[in-house]
Amino acid sequence: MRTAKHIELLEAYVPGEQPKSRDVVKLNTNENPYPPTPKCAEVLASFNLDQLRRYPDPEFVTLRKAIAKRFGTGPERVFVGNGSDEILSLAARAFVENDECIASLDPSYSLYKTLAAIRDVKWVGLPLASLLLAYSSRRSTLSARLPQKASLFLWANPNAPTGAWTEPATISSFAHKFPGVVLVDEAYADFAKGNCMGLAIAPRNKNVIVMRTFSKSYSLAGLRVGFCIGPSDLIEALYKVKDSYNVDAVAQAVALAAFNDRIYHAKTVAAVKKTRAALIHELRRRGWDVPDSEANFVFAKPPLTTTAEEVFEGLRRRMVFVRYFPGPQTGDRLRITVGTPSEVKRLLNTLDTM
Ligand SMILES: Cc1ncc(COP(=O)(O)O)c(C=O)c1O
Repeated sequence: MRTAKHIELLEAYVPGEQPKSRDVVKLNTNENPYPPTPKCAEVLASFNLDQLRRYPDPEFVTLRKAIAKRFGTGPERVFVGNGSDEILSLAARAFVENDECIASLDPSYSLYKTLAAIRDVKWVGLPLASLLLAYSSRRSTLSARLPQKASLFLWANPNAPTGAWTEPATISSFAHKFPGVVLVDEAYADFAKGNCMGLAIAPRNKNVIVMRTFSKSYSLAGLRVGFCIGPSDLIEALYKVKDSYNVDAVAQAVALAAFNDRIYHAKTVAAVKKTRAALIHELRRRGWDVPDSEANFVFAKPPLTTTAEEVFEGLRRRMVFVRYFPGPQTGDRLRITVGTPSEVKRLLNTLDTM
């Protein structure tokens, strides 16, 4: 059978490993180490199975209204996806012509590049410093660096895998000059000191979408729900290209329960932030280079006596999983998810014995 040429050549995105063994300390995919709120269990226990006989609400009205209300905007400016990965893929479908390109920071979430390849358009990655330089001049010089017009900029903030944070004001002035859609991927924003939601709901911004996920701060990576807020014409475009029933009935109900339990959410986020500070401190004490992180992971470089790859392999053999991204920009570091205090202790103890 014939596969489209660009798909034949595609380097598929490689997700983090999901080990079967329960003994693994799993610090490799930025999941939340705490369980979801007990309210999710209540929803599941009382879920009316008759709802599964029918198709789910294609417009997730109840969840959408709750999200809109929380952020002080209208439901017509809210979209919900089967994980935020789906929203990224829909954005690549909706906002990019065949002769345009998708841009992002480099390094950043590596799925962005894969999405461009799936869509068969070019991807351009720019280091944060050179991007800001290009946009700080009166006339943007970014276009000179692009092979084609960039019509979609995917900006992870906090960035992954670095954990670095960019001020909303900087992203706002970038968006004013950028000719296409700026989608701010706030998968980790709940762990950060601020966020860009104000840009998404301000009526004067015509090209900014801000996206969140239930996978990280709400501990629901297995459920697959993400959402975004932006100008209603852009949101409408996402509705046009989505599958009819992209978010299942269970996911809509459970996500709503998690979203409504603000106290539990704040508690787990605070716990992760506290452990993050301790992890950074302990790694630095052991000679690691650890930049500040505004996410639920750190991007840390081991002391010169050993390479990141060796540490990754050594930890793996000892059942501690972290993430290693080979390559010139990322290969000297490990991305380590913030776990519970006891998981972090096991990581540190393991490092001490290696
Ligand atoms: C920056 C970034 N965006 C999006 C996602 C995907 O999130 P979701 O589980 O909502 O698809 C991830 C997952 O790790 C991520 O790191």
